[in-house]
Amino acid sequence: MSAAVTHEFEGRVALVTGAASGIGAAAARLFSERGARVAVVDVDSNGERTVDVIRSAGGEATFIRADVSDDGAVERAVAKTLEAFGRLDCAFNNAGISGPPNPIVDLPLEQWHRGIDVMLTGVFLCMRHEIPRMLEGGGGSIVNCASGAGLIGFPGQAAYVASKHGVLGLTKTAAMEYGKQGVLINAICPGTARTAMVENVIEQTPELEEELRRLHPIGRIAEPSEIAEAALWLCSGRASFVMGSALVVDGGYVAQ
Ligand SMILES: NC(=O)c1ccc[n+]([C@@H]2O[C@H](COP(=O)([O-])OP(=O)(O)OC[C@H]3O[C@@H](n4cnc5c(N)ncnc54)[C@H](O)[C@@H]3O)[C@@H](O)[C@H]2O)c1
Repeated sequence: MSAAVTHEFEGRVALVTGAASGIGAAAARLFSERGARVAVVDVDSNGERTVDVIRSAGGEATFIRADVSDDGAVERAVAKTLEAFGRLDCAFNNAGISGPPNPIVDLPLEQWHRGIDVMLTGVFLCMRHEIPRMLEGGGGSIVNCASGAGLIGFPGQAAYVASKHGVLGLTKTAAMEYGKQGVLINAICPGTARTAMVENVIEQTPELEEELRRLHPIGRIAEPSEIAEAALWLCSGRASFVMGSALVVDGGYVAQ
């Protein structure tokens, strides 16, 4: 890796939601390795573990406990980031949840609302509070985490699929609203990655692991860092003409 890439976030501040685990934790570590100071935002206090890992490697990070579906909590999380580090340059709005499979007729209303609240309203609330701080600092980059389920349907996952399709619409709209003012907003659509979300399902249905491998034309599922790399590229100066895009990072899953 070139020295320019190794230090490309030097002097910059990144906020990552859902950074206690999986893709978000990997992104927080990568931001730090490349020079950023990082706000690790999560509803789960395991976010402290991500901070410990970053600090033991010599980086700077702070854990901020917040539920992304709570407007006041998100506002405070962004304010605390500014208090800790003085600015906000990059945000990866990544927090997400999965739920048990249920066809629409049987989907408990509560499960529907929670999926939409965390993964769609959560992204909306994060952008609402991040964008003004980025504008004050002269610009920034936001990456919203959608999914292959933002592009195609999956039976039994109505709330997840609807929220991820919604994230793409929200991303395009936000990009058009703020791109000219220097805030570049994009989304990523990951395929299956080896995170807690997926390992919990594999634990219950072990044969699923082979099935998931088979479903990805690349012949395997992703490591969380492979998804995080795409988010970091979109936040970097190397993606300076990319905006309103939905970058597919899925080992060919939706291409087949
Ligand atoms: N793992 C995959 O295969 C996969 C595929 C496509 C998309 N995604 C998306 O990637 C993102 C990260 O998922 P992951 O696989 O790393 O899962 P994960 O379960 O490992 O991590 C998700 C994190 O989000 C946090 N979180 C959940 N609800 C929250 C809330 N209300 N407020 C703040 N934090 C909250 C959790 O505590 C957890 O730390 C999600 O948006 C998910 O939908 C994952």
